[in-house]
Amino acid sequence: MKTLNRFSLLCLSLFLAVTGLATFDSVAPSLASRAAHAQDLESKKIVPFVPTPQEVVDKMIELAGVKTGDVVYDLGSGDGRIVITAAKKGARAVGFDVDGDLVKESRENIRKAGVQELAEIRQQDILTVDLSGASVVTMYLLPDVNLKLRPNVLSQMKPGSRVVSHAFDMGDWKPDKTERVDGRTIYLWTVPAKK
Ligand SMILES: C[S@@+](CC[C@H](N)C(=O)[O-])C[C@H]1O[C@@H](n2cnc3c(N)ncnc32)[C@H](O)[C@@H]1O
Repeated sequence: MKTLNRFSLLCLSLFLAVTGLATFDSVAPSLASRAAHAQDLESKKIVPFVPTPQEVVDKMIELAGVKTGDVVYDLGSGDGRIVITAAKKGARAVGFDVDGDLVKESRENIRKAGVQELAEIRQQDILTVDLSGASVVTMYLLPDVNLKLRPNVLSQMKPGSRVVSHAFDMGDWKPDKTERVDGRTIYLWTVPAKK
């Protein structure tokens, strides 16, 4: 599939060159480097896509107290359901995912839900995201990935910001609250004051 995408881009460059719309030499390198960049990003995928059931999403958003004025980051945004649910509460919501197909699908879902004024998806590795702009971070990842993100959460997010995780905790950082929905555990933390 990814090879096909790359092949399609090269075919498009050839077409543009043959039809005189652009020279192959001018178009091919930038298209090829964009394809290589997308492939490089996809190689950073460290968690498979498994969607959070909507009931659980609703509880995550409720537990974090998401409201107008919040900026919600969903780390590993999948099909965009958390981002869309947060935007429907009036928050500005940004999803981050490395999977090009999911980025496309989630952008389409945002458009269908009519929340494109408030919601967006960025194709970016979650380990490189600057979390300082978020008042709420949501995640459904893996235990070791949560632990990798913990230093960024604690150093970059403002005191009082909230973090909600579906299924996995943050090691010895004790949650303020846990809830069970549909057999799933949801964890809530509040970022403490800096020492
Ligand atoms: C378990 S799914 C959760 C999807 C969504 N947040 C939800 O709860 O329905 C994890 C997501 O993380 C994405 N992902 C995995 N590694 C990533 C990385 N390094 N950077 C950004 N996204 C990543 C996957 O593509 C997948 O969509």
